[in-house]
Amino acid sequence: TGLWNKGRLCHPPFHLLLFSLSPLPTLGRRDFYKILGVSRGASIKDIKKAYRKLALQLHPDRNPDDPRAQEKFQDLGAAYEVLSDEEKRKQYDAYGEEGLKDGHQRDFTTSGNPRQQDRNIPRGSDIIVDLEVTLEEVYSGNFVEVVRNKPVARQAPGKRKCNCRQEMRTTQLGPGRFQMTQEVVCDECPNVKLVNEERTLEVEIEPGVRDGMEYPFIGEGEPHVDGEPGDLRFRIKVLKHPVFERRGDDLYTNVTISLVEALTGFEMDIAHLDGHKVHVARDKITKPGAKLWKKGEGLPNFDNNNIKGSLIITFDVEFPKEQLTNEQREGLKQLLKQGSVQKVYNGLQGY
Ligand SMILES: *[C@@H]1O[C@H](CO)[C@@H](O)[C@H](O)[C@H]1NC(C)=O
Repeated sequence: TGLWNKGRLCHPPFHLLLFSLSPLPTLGRRDFYKILGVSRGASIKDIKKAYRKLALQLHPDRNPDDPRAQEKFQDLGAAYEVLSDEEKRKQYDAYGEEGLKDGHQRDFTTSGNPRQQDRNIPRGSDIIVDLEVTLEEVYSGNFVEVVRNKPVARQAPGKRKCNCRQEMRTTQLGPGRFQMTQEVVCDECPNVKLVNEERTLEVEIEPGVRDGMEYPFIGEGEPHVDGEPGDLRFRIKVLKHPVFERRGDDLYTNVTISLVEALTGFEMDIAHLDGHKVHVARDKITKPGAKLWKKGEGLPNFDNNNIKGSLIITFDVEFPKEQLTNEQREGLKQLLKQGSVQKVYNGLQGY
């Protein structure tokens, strides 16, 4: 079984061909650009942005009264699938939807594992880079372009030894007599040199992304002349925000109101992470430390952007700074009629 790993010589980058389970819909001829509302020259970034926005708007769950909601949503998905893929977009631009019919294959670059089982292929090391993102970006999503100077292996004249490994050789010395020796066996590969190349990588910051999540770029790590390059992984680091604090999908914030507002009620708007206003209105008494929950005003859930956490507002009451005059004190006593509730306790009350 000598050279069992010969088939792996100078492996091409690992690609998996997946067959899409849902063939492209065959309905009429659709204008994918129109569906996404972008121009024919739109960048991939614009296309992704438009898709994300429309996917929220057109989601059938959001449009229960529209009998065509499902269809529209499917059209949108088809438009995105084609226009977000360079090859398919070219084909579509040239031949229209018809031109895509026989192209059900999708070319995926896998994230990680399958090839790591091929332990015999040497790999360059992985590079992990922290990518700082704001809470605003976590809320709305964003695309970040990162320019990377990357050494890539290019063919050079000449040959070199590669894929060296230990192998057992069995030699028959005579009837029933064998000799086994271990020797190093190498293949010959074309020579390579490392050339610096500039590449722009686009990292999508998906809404709801969590701290520490990683976005891998397969094969964008350190190169290895005898094998495959490692991976480049962007690790999300969510920056602290001056107004909102994140806990899971929930957002927390503090609001200071005046004593008068605490007693008589108030209305206010809080500017959210994307600038929309969250209206808060109370006509009841608000105690210091009281919490108000605004359902659906938290962060979008990473796995399902249609689900949002809550915004939890904790109120803090600011007391007047001016001392009261004697008349004002009397007036307040008359007004509030609260009497005395003095109680001395150790804070463990109720236990
Ligand atoms: C709200 O105030 C409390 C108490 O001062 C503090 O611990 C908390 O971090 C504040 N929350 C935010 C979101 O600023």
